[in-house]
Amino acid sequence: MRVIEFDYIDSTNVYAKSNLDTLEDKSLILAHRQSAGKGRLNRTWVDLGEGNLFLSFVLKPSGSYSFCYPNLSQYLSVCLCNVLETYGLKPQIKWPNDVLIDGKKIAGILAESVMQGTSLKGIILGIGVNLNATKEDTASIPDKLVTSLNLEINHPVNMDTFFESLTDEFFKGYDEFLNSGFPKIKEDYLRRNCFLGKELEIQVLGRKERGIAKYINDNGELVLINDVNKEVVITAGDIL
Ligand code: BTN
Repeated sequence: MRVIEFDYIDSTNVYAKSNLDTLEDKSLILAHRQSAGKGRLNRTWVDLGEGNLFLSFVLKPSGSYSFCYPNLSQYLSVCLCNVLETYGLKPQIKWPNDVLIDGKKIAGILAESVMQGTSLKGIILGIGVNLNATKEDTASIPDKLVTSLNLEINHPVNMDTFFESLTDEFFKGYDEFLNSGFPKIKEDYLRRNCFLGKELEIQVLGRKERGIAKYINDNGELVLINDVNKEVVITAGDIL
């Protein structure tokens, strides 16, 4: 596993995508600062300063594992929960892959796949984790309750240690995850969920869906019951 480290970059995901041809499978792109971090649904990921984690996993699995590509970001969210629990925290997962502490977002995950015709060139799994942010900076993020690991445990966090724990945790189970897919992590994912049974509004591409979150199926999709008692399966989207 090769680590490419930058003091400063626009976006680790953009770097990984632009250099995908020459990057090996399981390369890691790590940056100390990021000026144009990308978030889901065309949002930006705000850099809360030195000491926070900006990381992209470059993955080039063989085509036979395509059934579980959409679940890699959920797998990473479970790995992150395992690591955060070693700091004594009780993280929760908001579908599909946001990790929260007491309702406040501590990390964001953005998975991007790069295709060449119909075949996959690679998957870039980007993750930003707030490790060392000030209370004022977390409060400055618009429309979201945000926290940082140092604020939860009341002391600074060693970024190198955290990086190693997270990447070790990820690669420890990665090959097995590719073979088994979402069912392998379903139980670990569900026991951290904070959304089942709640009435939700979901942003799905150009439309919104509303309903009670009933269950997560074996593909990691969210199943809602809408106001006419019909099941609606959501493959990709964001809880509003
Ligand atoms: C989200 O919650 O909207 C996802 C945020 C993902 C942010 C990370 S930071 C490292 C990597 N590089 C990027 O440009 N984005 C991801």
